[in-house]
Amino acid sequence: MNIQVAMEAVEKRMFEVVNSDIAVLRDASRHILEAGGKRVRPRLLLLAYAACGGTDIPYSVPVAAAVELVHTASVVHDDINDHGVVRRGRPSVNAIWGRTFALLAGDYLFTKVYELMAPYRDMNVILAEATVALVEGETLQASAVKENNFSRQVYYDIISRKTAALFKSAGKLGAKLAGATDDVADALGEFGFYVGLAFQIIDDVLDLTADTDTLGKTAGIDIAQGRGFAVAYAGNRPTAAGVALVDEAPADPMTAIREKVLRGNAVEEAYQQAEHFAALAVTGLNVLPESPEKDALADLAYAMVRRDH
Ligand code: IPE
Ligand code: IPE
Ligand code: MG
Ligand code: MG
Repeated sequence: MNIQVAMEAVEKRMFEVVNSDIAVLRDASRHILEAGGKRVRPRLLLLAYAACGGTDIPYSVPVAAAVELVHTASVVHDDINDHGVVRRGRPSVNAIWGRTFALLAGDYLFTKVYELMAPYRDMNVILAEATVALVEGETLQASAVKENNFSRQVYYDIISRKTAALFKSAGKLGAKLAGATDDVADALGEFGFYVGLAFQIIDDVLDLTADTDTLGKTAGIDIAQGRGFAVAYAGNRPTAAGVALVDEAPADPMTAIREKVLRGNAVEEAYQQAEHFAALAVTGLNVLPESPEKDALADLAYAMVRRDH
């Protein structure tokens, strides 16, 4: 199966499905879709599908589009919560249209998933579970920040739900669409889950180490908001107590915390953890016969660790 052709069909399907006659919903949806993004989740789904023997592009594409729309909706809402004003190298939906319309545009994208998934019977349950987990993860994160209990254990619970669950569903759905056995579908789900953990850990590292231009989204907001890998590992929070831990605190407390984290070994630990999860993911591919798509899945897992945005 030609993955590139399938990915182009995913793009087309997403644009078709968000063609609302309400201008703000259509424009905001197009704005966030046109900005691009890595499209990792639909690629993972389609590679899993092909690696399990699937060849039917028109059959697999709507599900890949649905997974990407769940993700797209989640970042539109996430930027409201995180006060993110840059997304995919453009002003975020909330930055242009404000919170109310960003909330509604996110709702619109989420509800369009029903339309895409309607013909796919029990596969709806898989995507619904992932979407519930995503909401739980974002909620757990906001609570952990509020209650000041952003421990390592809580961190892994958060990222398992807010990010890894959707990657897991992509792997599993790809396998199910291809008619794989439950064992193979579970293995592909596990592959996606570990890729998702690695992916979010690196996302958190890049928030600290990369700049806004490279990332295409506001850098440095995790630590400013008291969350992410570094907060869980270094126990640093941007509070007066946190600043007191810094030897020579610069005037700006955020800079102080960031510098302290970068001086410690949180970033190195993060890379080790992410590599560990990528390797675990790749081990799960052993259930598959050799194929170019199987190799591409392994490459995708490692690329998630090496990426710079
Ligand atoms: C960002 O995901 C949200 C996270 C779960 C970290 P991506 O990094 O995949 O975002 P895009 O789609 O490429 O913009
Ligand atoms: C991603 O977490 C959570 C989602 C499910 C959208 P982040 O808050 O780290 O995502 P970015 O960094 O804003 O893309
Ligand atoms: Mg965010
Ligand atoms: Mg992030």
